[in-house]
Amino acid sequence: MVTRRLRDLEYAIRDVAAVANELKKTGQKIYHLNIGDPVIYDFKTPEYISQASADATFAGQNYYVDSLGVRELREAICKYENNKNDIDLKPDDVLITSGVTEGIFFVMAGLLDNNNEFLIPGPSYPVYINYSKFFDGIPVEYELDESDNWEPNIDDLRKKITNKTKAILICSPNNPTGIVYSRNKIKQIIDLAGEYDLPILSDEIYDQITYEKEYVCPSSLSNDVPIIGMNGFSKAHLATGWRMGYIYYHDKLNKLAELKEGIEKLARARLCANSVAQFAAIEAIRNPGPHTDEMVKKLRERRDYSYKRIKQIEGLTCNNADGTFYLFPKIDFKEFTQWNNDKEFVLDLLKKTGICTVYGSGFGNYGKDHFRITFLPDLDTLEIVYNSLEEFLK
Ligand SMILES: Cc1ncc(COP(=O)(O)O)c(C=O)c1O
Repeated sequence: MVTRRLRDLEYAIRDVAAVANELKKTGQKIYHLNIGDPVIYDFKTPEYISQASADATFAGQNYYVDSLGVRELREAICKYENNKNDIDLKPDDVLITSGVTEGIFFVMAGLLDNNNEFLIPGPSYPVYINYSKFFDGIPVEYELDESDNWEPNIDDLRKKITNKTKAILICSPNNPTGIVYSRNKIKQIIDLAGEYDLPILSDEIYDQITYEKEYVCPSSLSNDVPIIGMNGFSKAHLATGWRMGYIYYHDKLNKLAELKEGIEKLARARLCANSVAQFAAIEAIRNPGPHTDEMVKKLRERRDYSYKRIKQIEGLTCNNADGTFYLFPKIDFKEFTQWNNDKEFVLDLLKKTGICTVYGSGFGNYGKDHFRITFLPDLDTLEIVYNSLEEFLK
């Protein structure tokens, strides 16, 4: 007795966690390398941001705010985006959302119905697949090419554009592969979108968590092709639980006016995003502090260690991460014949060692034969995990 919309929802990242929780009840120690939440490890929300949130609530700013978001925050975001990515935004081009997650929901609600198609990268962050289907659309994955360091395969993308395609999604730095799309590939995607008159949706949640490779913001390369950017405070400002994000419209020719108006109606229908978190977010964006750089420095060390250990394991291959906090190793099932697929592998690993990762097929068709593992835990924990993984695979 439930709708198709809800019956079809799947979210591997949390589904694996449910199995882990059952195991925990039996006394098994669980190593959570499945969820991309820095705040459950040794990264803490900076005190001055927490203080701003406490100040806001004690100052009585606990009321419904503007459905589009507190104006001061939208102004601060414009300034930030203008400085960082050289794009010219006005406060009305910005909408505050309950995390990027709500932003994806809003945009897909505005673009999809009736089996229309959304081009998303494959492997894909599962929310893109879920929400596309939720709105009676079809998520169509374009290939990220593992043999080309997971760069988007532009020929494949072109082949998959049909007269039902509504938009192309870019997720760079990418979850789950950890890759940062190169400038050249982003330019090619923008050109292709221009050729077919399609908007681009750009998920920029990991834009500040990058290592050696240069991060390029798609909006900084686009003149006429409209881009809806999405970003937030979860990762860079260590505030995952606050559910604080935004979408912005980089749309010089005003091609998205109708979509924007529709999304604003939807935003009004849900009243507003969390008011207290918005007042704290003003502080975070105006006064960024050293916490993001400090986190990236620690993560680089943890990535290097994890990558080195994975490379040493026979039967696993892996591209190194340019950004995010994920690695996405490939499992050679000719070497490991005791498991039939990535899901069996991940569940057996969890049951026997307590190491909780996510099976690659949870990230769509291109994810199969892989697993996603975070490198958020400290080095001591990672050492225990990789010793145990190595032993398990022997
Ligand atoms: C690619 C990507 N987009 C969006 C999100 C969710 O962001 P938010 O916390 O702002 O909803 C995540 C979280 O892991 C993510 O990996």
